Amino acid sequence: MSGIFGSVAIAVPAHKSVEWYTPAWVFDALGLTFDLDPASPHDHETAVPAATKYTVFDDGLKKPWFGRVWMNPPYGPETGMWVKRMAHHGNGIALVFSRTDASWCQEAMRAASAMLFMSGRIEFVPGNENKHKKARCGAGTVLFAFGAECANALRGLGDRGVFIEMPNTRY
Ligand SMILES: C[S@@+](CC[C@H](N)C(=O)[O-])C[C@H]1O[C@@H](n2cnc3c(N)ncnc32)[C@H](O)[C@@H]1O
Repeated sequence: MSGIFGSVAIAVPAHKSVEWYTPAWVFDALGLTFDLDPASPHDHETAVPAATKYTVFDDGLKKPWFGRVWMNPPYGPETGMWVKRMAHHGNGIALVFSRTDASWCQEAMRAASAMLFMSGRIEFVPGNENKHKKARCGAGTVLFAFGAECANALRGLGDRGVFIEMPNTRY
């Protein structure tokens, strides 16, 4: 894929699936709805309360992003591109692996209004191809909020981990 965010090869190893979805309790706890989920399965109805959903057939990185965005991107080498796009968009919540040493995670930590490092591991919802598998996360989860409204909503999950608000967040 290409554009102002550069280009990246989609190179998720064949044995690794990105078809693991965010459980509904996350959205219940946030109490937010979203205008867009730019990375959504094409063959499964997820719990993401978003009015518009892009799938791999749309290529969510190429399409316009608008309004409040929910982003749990395909993980792998292209995660950084998604996080960069989200930071640039500046309105929404991103759920990603807590890889604090990765350059994309460092960039998100600098750009976000607030973040929540979750305690323990989230049990993700398996997609069709994984429905007999148990989620085995290789890392913890961090939620990044971009924009004051999303930071405010994320604060509501504060008891589920360590919540950090950046001093430049304006309400
Ligand atoms: C980790 S799952 C998250 C799904 C959903 N956003 C959620 O939070 O439950 C990432 C999804 O992105 C989809 N995906 C992969 N590449 C994509 C692309 N280029 N554009 C849009 N969606 C894509 C995958 O099929 C997968 O369903």
